[in-house]
Amino acid sequence: MCYRQWEKTMEVGIIELDIQHRNLLYIIGLLEDVLKEGNYTKQAKRILREFDNFIRYHFKTEEDMFIKYGYSDQEHIDTHNEILAKLDKLDKSNCDKKCLNALLKLGKFLFDEHTVKMDQKFADYLKSLES
Ligand SMILES: [Fe+2]
Ligand SMILES: [Fe+2]
Repeated sequence: MCYRQWEKTMEVGIIELDIQHRNLLYIIGLLEDVLKEGNYTKQAKRILREFDNFIRYHFKTEEDMFIKYGYSDQEHIDTHNEILAKLDKLDKSNCDKKCLNALLKLGKFLFDEHTVKMDQKFADYLKSLES
């Protein structure tokens, strides 16, 4: 069970991105469950790999959309890169409780400070194209 529930106000209006953002909440929920169950060794590496792949794929999808829709926001791209740098710093060979907690913190930061804030600026831009 994730700490946040998806709400319509979180949508950016592009179905592919909205599905990915929902997926982010799902992965955060998985992380929370693993931490609660204390079953780190079995699932930690798999979740870290999934999370890592997911974030890279998601940022690429988003940045491709920026180009497609003529959206320019260097601060947004810089934030993606900062998050990737934090992800790179995690020791993937020894993903213990500490590592999973760091990953959970990063996931929550990504959702609360980026997805529902910075990504919404892109959503506003897309809406302005329609009017
Ligand atoms: Fe996003
Ligand atoms: Fe983003």
